[in-house]
Amino acid sequence: MSEKRRVLRVGVLGAGQISQAAHFEACRKAENAELYAICDVAEDLLARMSAVHAPRKAYADYDVMLADPNVDAVIVAVADQFHVPMALRAIKAGKHVLVEKPMGVTVGECEKLCGVARASGLVVQVGTEKRFDEGIAFAREFIREEMGEMIALKAWYCDSTHRYTMTDALQPVIETSEKARRPEGDPRAELGRYYVLGHGSHLLDTASFLGGEIGAVRTRLVEKFGAYCWFSEVAFADGSVGHLDLTIKVRMDWHEGFQVYGEHGSVIGRTYNPWYFKSSDVKCFSEKDGSYRRPLGADGHFFRRQVEGFAEAILEGVPMRGADAEDGLAAVRGMVAMVRSAQTGEAVRLSEVEGGV
Ligand SMILES: NC(=O)c1ccc[n+]([C@@H]2O[C@H](COP(=O)([O-])OP(=O)(O)OC[C@H]3O[C@@H](n4cnc5c(N)ncnc54)[C@H](O)[C@@H]3O)[C@@H](O)[C@H]2O)c1
Repeated sequence: MSEKRRVLRVGVLGAGQISQAAHFEACRKAENAELYAICDVAEDLLARMSAVHAPRKAYADYDVMLADPNVDAVIVAVADQFHVPMALRAIKAGKHVLVEKPMGVTVGECEKLCGVARASGLVVQVGTEKRFDEGIAFAREFIREEMGEMIALKAWYCDSTHRYTMTDALQPVIETSEKARRPEGDPRAELGRYYVLGHGSHLLDTASFLGGEIGAVRTRLVEKFGAYCWFSEVAFADGSVGHLDLTIKVRMDWHEGFQVYGEHGSVIGRTYNPWYFKSSDVKCFSEKDGSYRRPLGADGHFFRRQVEGFAEAILEGVPMRGADAEDGLAAVRGMVAMVRSAQTGEAVRLSEVEGGV
């Protein structure tokens, strides 16, 4: 049984940007996982990435990788529209799955994946790696253990106009291929949708990771000078109030963070662009001793920590620390609710939305 092995043998589907910048290295550096296989239909990219990362196997055909009994788990790192179908195929083949965010593009397909994941007994995790940011994890622990009841949460995620200057300096040279498989049409043709799926998924996941279930949102969208600003008033299921700010792109540095106010303390956090591999600066104030707690968060490799958490849940059967399929569905519901609310001006309950972003 694969669960008895100490090291998880991972097959990565997709040798594109995110795998090159994060997953290949994360699997190679992980203590309890190995980069066993790489799969991409673009054979030139597959050959180049295999030469660099030396997986044991390289597959151009996903079904052939899934048929390899040595593959314990799959990281689905392909375009958003392919996430659910590829994850379902992996589950059918008996593989655990770490699927990139957003989990899917419609509520319906995500519900289906949740049901199949639950019935399979396999570990299905969503790649919102910020849950593995030591600062954010520390904040959540403080909120749960010491802060007492929450009254309010604010969170913001604002991509910067200077973002590519930063990431080009930080990431490895990303290899591309003419043969790469992409979904029909240009995903950037509808920029608002593209931004909500790419960035809103992180904002919503962090907000519910810290603040718990979101019941409803009322969102206003303003578009000016090529920038998009979604401001959402949030009703948390526990009766707390919230505000989410998704602004793409701000004319300044990357701007991401959160504030949480509670009965016995409060939390303030600043999150960095992930490619700096720097944990969030978090300060948790406790009324108990009238002082702030600040974690160092020396290990900022969220992507490696994410794979290690995934492998730990599979190999040791410990509770998942990452987002599970239900969390992935909740984030997709949240994004759909934001978009619907921005269209109508009405508050939208997450439990009532259907369709896609
Ligand atoms: N977690 C994060 O912070 C983060 C950051 C960036 C991107 N992402 C996510 O990662 C995902 C992938 O993004 P990307 O920019 O790397 O995409 P990409 O298009 O650059 O790469 C995907 C690769 O998968 C291959 N592929 C697609 N379908 C295939 C199939 N059926 N069989 C074999 N190969 C197949 C393509 O040929 C391509 O090379 C997206 O969902 C994106 O949202 C997450």
